[in-house]
Amino acid sequence: MSAGFAAKIVAWQKKHGRHDLPWQGTRDPYRIWLAETMLQQTQVATVIPYYNRFLARFPDVAALVHAPLDEVLRLWSGLGYYSRARNLHGAAHVIAAGHGGRFPRRFEQVAALPGVGRSTAAAICVFAYGARHAILDGNVRRVLARFRGIQGFPGEKTVADRLWAVAERLLPRRNLEAYTQGLMDLGATVCTRARPRCAECPVHGDCVALRRGRVARLPAPRPRKPLPRKRTIMLVLTRAGEVLLEKRPAAGIWGGMWCLPEAVRNADIAAHCLKRFGVRVTEIERLPQMAHGFTHFKLNIQPLRLRVSALVPHAAEPGVVWLPLEEARGAAIPAPVRRILAAL
Ligand code: ADE
Repeated sequence: MSAGFAAKIVAWQKKHGRHDLPWQGTRDPYRIWLAETMLQQTQVATVIPYYNRFLARFPDVAALVHAPLDEVLRLWSGLGYYSRARNLHGAAHVIAAGHGGRFPRRFEQVAALPGVGRSTAAAICVFAYGARHAILDGNVRRVLARFRGIQGFPGEKTVADRLWAVAERLLPRRNLEAYTQGLMDLGATVCTRARPRCAECPVHGDCVALRRGRVARLPAPRPRKPLPRKRTIMLVLTRAGEVLLEKRPAAGIWGGMWCLPEAVRNADIAAHCLKRFGVRVTEIERLPQMAHGFTHFKLNIQPLRLRVSALVPHAAEPGVVWLPLEEARGAAIPAPVRRILAAL
């Protein structure tokens, strides 16, 4: 089904890919390591001037080893994610002490350097040594998740494992440099997160996401964190077939809507009702709790049904009405209030 995937990527890279980036056209693993490290969290256009400045000052591992960390950090300043610079400096010392000052050759040794993960190690070994390893950086994750229609957030281990398996399976026997660069270039210039140019993609004919109309939804974004929970008590005051509603302030949730009065704690409810609504509470009944989801929090609602006796003479409060139940159900009330009234 993905016959010729790699061949198409390689042919596309030759014609439409990027060929003049400053870290291309070299087999020097130090230069490639530096570039791949800078490119881990930063875009190509931003990286280029930093890369050139850094390389002019630290042209090889030996220069980096002999520099104080402060100077390395100064050249990194503005690029962000400074642990990358600290790791680079630390790794230079590992190379000096553990590898006789020569950049290691074996994938496992490269991957063991501080700050070098599986994908970065693979990119270094491909570009410096022509080795056969799969990469899976952010751009490539997007390309493969769409091409194979892989659901789920790639930050989750099971999803990442599936993507790595796809990356391994699609790997060609030859031409690893052009293939790897092609995947990176495709992700950066065609299979972009927003407004991808599928018509220009060399593998669109076999793209599962495109066929199923799911390009915009893959890869799945990071799942939302569990929302904070708030709780409130809603007071259902009823007498003679009528229910009391209160108008909410214009600002804040449910601004300006009619709502059941709220209380924060069970204590003082009777006193509050007497003072604000002029009613004496004779009985309190807990109704079933309910939850309501907002974008930024979840609200737990405990409705309390309050039976009230003799009305105390009381000036009509602005923003407070007694309405026949049917009329209240038809008023501008929020969904959870509607549910509470419907159950009465
Ligand atoms: N992103 C990560 N590595 C890259 C590379 N070698 N060229 C372009 N973009 C990249």
